[in-house]
Amino acid sequence: LKSINVAIVGYGVVGNGVAEILVKEKDLLVKKSNLDINLKKVFTRNWNKKFKFPLPENIKAKSLNEILEDRDIDIVVELTGGVEFPYKLITDAILSGKHIVTANKALLAERGKDIFNLAEKYKIRIGFEGAVAGGIPVIRTLREGLVANRIEKIYGILNGTTNYILTEMTKYGKEFKEALKHAQKLGYAEADPTLDINGTDAGHKIAILASLSFGGFADFKDIYIEGIESVDKMDIDFGRELGYILKLLAIAKDNGNGVEIRVHPTFLPADHPLSKVDGVFNAVMIEGNNVGETMFYGKGAGSLPTASAVVSDIVDIGKSIALGVGREIEITSMNWEHKDLKLVKAPDFYTRYYIRFTVPDKVGVLAFISNIFAKYNISIAAVIQKEKLESKLAKNIVPLIILTHTASENEIQKALEEISRSNLVKAKPILIRVEDEENNLENK
Ligand SMILES: NC(=O)c1ccc[n+]([C@@H]2O[C@H](COP(=O)([O-])OP(=O)(O)OC[C@H]3O[C@@H](n4cnc5c(N)ncnc54)[C@H](OP(=O)(O)O)[C@@H]3O)[C@@H](O)[C@H]2O)c1
Repeated sequence: LKSINVAIVGYGVVGNGVAEILVKEKDLLVKKSNLDINLKKVFTRNWNKKFKFPLPENIKAKSLNEILEDRDIDIVVELTGGVEFPYKLITDAILSGKHIVTANKALLAERGKDIFNLAEKYKIRIGFEGAVAGGIPVIRTLREGLVANRIEKIYGILNGTTNYILTEMTKYGKEFKEALKHAQKLGYAEADPTLDINGTDAGHKIAILASLSFGGFADFKDIYIEGIESVDKMDIDFGRELGYILKLLAIAKDNGNGVEIRVHPTFLPADHPLSKVDGVFNAVMIEGNNVGETMFYGKGAGSLPTASAVVSDIVDIGKSIALGVGREIEITSMNWEHKDLKLVKAPDFYTRYYIRFTVPDKVGVLAFISNIFAKYNISIAAVIQKEKLESKLAKNIVPLIILTHTASENEIQKALEEISRSNLVKAKPILIRVEDEENNLENK
């Protein structure tokens, strides 16, 4: 039985969960891994709080240096959050020869390249299973389970807060603000939910997944990101009539010209497996050239689900320490080809579109719009005009919905700009991208 000494920095939601699992599941972990994992020290900036999993005094560190200078500590688990503080902490810990486990997706998406390069230089391992999709072991799946595959596409629902809100809007007819309030009340959304709602969090996660899948560093700044803050319940309802469910989808795929990475509200066919992923759950679909399509489902956040992933990293790194091998052959780096990924920048991608215009109910409007669409090579798949359904709208003003076939985002934007210049159009057109078997999704 080999002893592994672990220190946690940051004792909040996830930190408490990790300590709880390490203590309560000690016997199970010994049986499964033959490791005696010892939580030696924990540092957090304020010990004068009530904790979900209270700790004995002797493991509460009074300073970070107590951990960094302790030569017996093998693994430092960073669970603070943010970017600058954990960047410095992890850099210092690497230089002190400690392996790292983190669940911090913001840090890895924004500064991952520097961290992984440094770690590689010092032969340090970095575990980050908890950083994407919480308890779902998707990082290990990409690195190990699917190692024999060229990844063609990876996409999924990577943010539980927004999925909860969209589910409430879809199933119970709530408006966005009401659904958000409810999510906050239940603890599914933070007091400041900005990074979830505006798609940044899902963007961080898909940047990490794309780096692992396609073998180069995906620069987060180049990813196309749109959140759910302006989603109108009306479009969720119209979409449903057309057979679609709205999800905040994160997509990364190699389209031949480079890797396309985008996060935006997306209509999916109602019978697609991701359409059935409701509430705070996450799910990821991965298509590999040899395995075909795979799907992973589970809790994407929360104290114990995330801690389950963090502890799996501790055990994994602990095993290689115990074996005394693995450091040299381990790919520590997310960017395994040591290059930046060539990203297809928005708007150079193709997909299908749902567009809602607000127009007068009169002859010629549709002809006007379809002429402009034709000019930009946009082919119309379906048109639905809603009768007086919207009491909110002035007399004789109606929603006109157009579903297109696969078209260029570039051309769509130009067409909408041209259409919007006409005084026939009474409000900014609403555009929602559609992914189905016609364009991107596998035909089931
Ligand atoms: N919560 C989840 O479900 C979840 C899921 C996946 C990944 N993650 C990631 O896991 C990390 C931790 O999240 P969390 O939800 O556990 O956050 P949290 O509840 O806010 O906990 C963060 C902890 O770190 C402490 N801390 C922050 N800055 C510090 C500093 N400069 N020095 C010392 N301690 C510091 C905080 O102290 P105070 O209490 O004094 O502020 C708190 O104890 C984040 O990177 C997050 O993105 C979270």
